[in-house]
Amino acid sequence: MNVIKIAYARTFQFFLRIASKIVRFPIPTVKERLEDIPTLLKDEGLKCPILIVSNTVSKGKRYESLIKMLDANQIKYFSYIGVASDPTFKTIEVLAGFYKAHECDSIIAIGGGSVIDAAKAMGILVSNKYKNLARFKGVLKVKKRLPFFIAVPTTAGSGSEASVAAVVTNQETKDKFAISDGKLVPNVAILDDSLLKGLPSELVATTGMDAFTHAMESYMNHAGNKKSKEYAKKSLSLIKNHLFEFYSDRENDIARHNMLYASFYAGISFARSYVGYVHALAHAIGGVYHKPHGYLIAILLPYVLEAYGCKAYNALSEASIEMGIGSDKVSKEENASSLISWIRELNQKMGIPDSLEQMIHEKDYLPLAEHASIEANPLYPVPKEFDKNELALILKRANSKKF
Ligand SMILES: [Fe+2]
Repeated sequence: MNVIKIAYARTFQFFLRIASKIVRFPIPTVKERLEDIPTLLKDEGLKCPILIVSNTVSKGKRYESLIKMLDANQIKYFSYIGVASDPTFKTIEVLAGFYKAHECDSIIAIGGGSVIDAAKAMGILVSNKYKNLARFKGVLKVKKRLPFFIAVPTTAGSGSEASVAAVVTNQETKDKFAISDGKLVPNVAILDDSLLKGLPSELVATTGMDAFTHAMESYMNHAGNKKSKEYAKKSLSLIKNHLFEFYSDRENDIARHNMLYASFYAGISFARSYVGYVHALAHAIGGVYHKPHGYLIAILLPYVLEAYGCKAYNALSEASIEMGIGSDKVSKEENASSLISWIRELNQKMGIPDSLEQMIHEKDYLPLAEHASIEANPLYPVPKEFDKNELALILKRANSKKF
C-alpha cells in the first residue's frame, strides 16, 4: 500500500482510538443458567420478550423447560424460530415487524452468532428512526439504545454475546458487513455450557477457530489497550488448552465451560480493538460463496499471519509464549513461525482443509479483495496495511496451497 494511504489509515485509527476511550463499551452481566431468564425479566419490570431461537435449540428439552418457566411466571412471550446463517436485511425486517406487531418490550436471543447478530440488528430497527440497515454500516452509527437484551450463545465462537458488532447481509447486493457500536452489547450474557453438549464436532472446530481469530486479531492490532490484551491473552490460552479437548469430547464439562468463556473473552477484546484482514476477507468470500464464517476464518488465518511478515513478529511471539508454544530463548521470528505451524496442525487435527481448495474463481480475486479492503481500510488497526492487490495475492495463495 502506498505511503499516503498508510498515513491516512494510521491517522484515522489514531482518532478512533481516542474516540474509543471516550465512548463507553459495556461488558454484559454474566449468568450461567437458562433458568435465570424469568427473574432477569421480572427485575427489569419486563413482561413481553421476543424469543429469537435457532431451529436446533427450539427442539431441545432446555428450551421446553424455559417456556414452562415463562408460563409459570406469567410472562407473555412471542417466539420466532429459525434464523438462517448469515442473516439478511429481509429476515431482520421480518423480525422487526414481528416484534412491533406483538408489542414486545425486550429481546432474548438463543443460538449461534447468526441468531444473536440478527437479534441485535432487529433491535436497531425497532429503536432507531432509519429503517434501512445500510445506514448503520460501519462504526458508531446507532443513535438509540436497543431494548433490554439477553443473549444466550449456543456455540463457543462468535463472541456476539459480548461484542459491539452485528454482521448482516444485504441480499440484493450480496454485501456482508458489520455494524459496530457499543449500544449493541447485550445487557446480559447467559453462559450456560450445557446448551453446547450436542454440537457437531465440525461446528466446534470452525466456531472455536473463529473465537481464536477474534482474540488473535484483536491482540495484534494497534488499538489494543491493557484490558483488551488481557482478555485476548486469557482467550488464547483457554483455546490452546481446551478447543481440541472439546472437539474430541463434547461431554467434557471443563473443556465446554472454558471454551464458552474463551469465546466470551475474545468478544470483549475485539469489541475494543477490532478484528483484521482475516475477517475482512472471510466476510467478502462468505457474502458471495456462502461458506460458514468459521470455516473460512480457520483456513485464511495462517495465510494472513504469514503475509504480515516481520510486522507481526512481536505480537505473535508474545502470544506464542503466553500459550506455551514459544519460548523466550528463541527469536521472535521463530516463535511466530511456531504459532502459525501450531494453527495449521490444529486445523488439520480437526479436519479443516489447509486451503480454500480452489473454491474461488480467478475472476473474483480482485472484486473480493476490493470488498475486503473497503471493510478493513482504514478501520482495522492491523499490524501491516495491505491494498487490494496485496489482498488478492493472499486470496490466491489461500485458494490453493500449490501456489
Ligand atoms: Fe468472526
